[in-house]
Amino acid sequence: MQHRVILTVDLPTLASNYRAVRTIVAPCAVMPVLKANAYGLGVGPIAHALVAAGAPRIAVAEPFEALALAEAGVPIQILSGILPDEIAPMIEAGVTLPLVSVSSAKAISETARRLGRTAVCHVALDTGMGRAGFLWQDAPAALRTLVSFPHLAIEGLFTHFPLAYEGASAFTREQLRRFRLVLDAAHALGLRLKWIHAANSDAINNAPEACAPPFNLVRCGINLHGAFDAAGSLRVPLRPVLTMTTRLAQIRDLPAGTPIGYGHTYRTRRPMREGTVCAGYADGLPLALSNRGSVLVRGVAVPIVGRLSMDYLTVNLDDVPEARVGDVVTLLGRDGDAEIPVQDWANLKGTHAYDIICSIGSRVAREYRG
Ligand SMILES: Cc1ncc(COP(=O)(O)O)c(C=O)c1O
Repeated sequence: MQHRVILTVDLPTLASNYRAVRTIVAPCAVMPVLKANAYGLGVGPIAHALVAAGAPRIAVAEPFEALALAEAGVPIQILSGILPDEIAPMIEAGVTLPLVSVSSAKAISETARRLGRTAVCHVALDTGMGRAGFLWQDAPAALRTLVSFPHLAIEGLFTHFPLAYEGASAFTREQLRRFRLVLDAAHALGLRLKWIHAANSDAINNAPEACAPPFNLVRCGINLHGAFDAAGSLRVPLRPVLTMTTRLAQIRDLPAGTPIGYGHTYRTRRPMREGTVCAGYADGLPLALSNRGSVLVRGVAVPIVGRLSMDYLTVNLDDVPEARVGDVVTLLGRDGDAEIPVQDWANLKGTHAYDIICSIGSRVAREYRG
């Protein structure tokens, strides 16, 4: 017996996407962003594959994600925010911390002193994201205070782009200008910064100036999984990493005029061979696939009919008379010449690839190729 719905992550392809990003941004290094359990795909095997591919460090969002990577063998850094009660355990674990305000930096320095440690930190600079960190206007003065805290080792300065998919738009260029002003101020204070970073996947693809000196690091999440933000364009040659499959549970011949599923949103116009497929919105399939999406059976795209329910969806199998109960059904990925990319679901749901990948259900078994 095996799990019904299986998400297979192709680790060699993931590593090749990592190398493709690295080639495009060289000489910048590439830091995988593996927050939220590597966007829900399973951080352990993915981190292992990326470290083997040469990732020099890994970024996460919060402390438990950092602790999960304690054995990864590379520095782990928390992006964009730290709570007071998180500071001591993270210093003890040797996690690199974000500096987001003078008061938080002071607390980090004092905690490090109490623990007999030095806290390695990156200064988070808000050049226009409007979310967290030092406002760029305040940063030069704040840096003067930060360098006076004796138990901080400030090794990085970074910012984040809200609109990088637009390419070298006026706003992104203005963010770069603001960043350089603060970087000059940091250099004038004698700060020796090992890592200077701004670009995420959007910027890697659309804003090459954020992947060149003075920057020497990019932060990459969604591109590693072969997906990208369709609001922009794609510079890196990426290959899809995910395949999601399930099984065919039942096949029935329905007469014309049979209503199907909750809400009776579909009614057969003529006799139809119906397939009942073991996957629903509990597995992370968007409800928006109802009557609009398709799945692959024996390499053929067959339309979803009726509304998805929690555990099952129904398809029209008229084009695949050879289908049998137990057949593998491909929900995402390739079967023969046919393919359903993550972006198709994102388009139908009116969202982006991040939302689709992060929404894959906890019931779905994660398996890893390679
Ligand atoms: C600060 C920061 N940097 C980088 C990333 C990685 O983004 P992406 O998956 O678009 O590469 C994120 C993710 O949202 C982030 O919050």
